[in-house]
Amino acid sequence: MPDFEPIIVAFTCHYCAYAAADLAGVMRLQYPPNIRIIKIPCTGKVDIRHILLAFEKGADGVFVAGCRIGDCHLEDGNIKATRRVKYAKKLLDEVGIGGERLEMFYMSSAEGRRFAEVAAEMTERIKKLGPNPLRNGKQSNDSRFADS
Ligand code: FES
Repeated sequence: MPDFEPIIVAFTCHYCAYAAADLAGVMRLQYPPNIRIIKIPCTGKVDIRHILLAFEKGADGVFVAGCRIGDCHLEDGNIKATRRVKYAKKLLDEVGIGGERLEMFYMSSAEGRRFAEVAAEMTERIKKLGPNPLRNGKQSNDSRFADS
């Protein structure tokens, strides 16, 4: 599948991962354009329904990126998110989408390079896995995933 360009939704917390993504941009670091960033106040706000909805709307992969463990600005949001991601991975395995399409990452606001590496790592992983089985070869028709 050489020309498959996956759509990857990244739920990023305002304080760390989103700031790291912003820093990657400021540092002019190259990372794949496949990532659609959704800024949230804290990864603890990510619900399993949000993750499943992203796949239902055509995302090929999803990652949740928050502060490092112990550094969450809202106490333990990233720990809650870690549990939810783990559970959602099991659900994705059970319904045949595949839990490996979902991952949780941690980073500080100073880690622009790490954000770029995570974006590249997830893009490579999803390219190997192929399109979301729910898309059945079709492009997402959800305008929220469209290139800007
Ligand atoms: Fe970043 Fe909670 S504020 S994960």
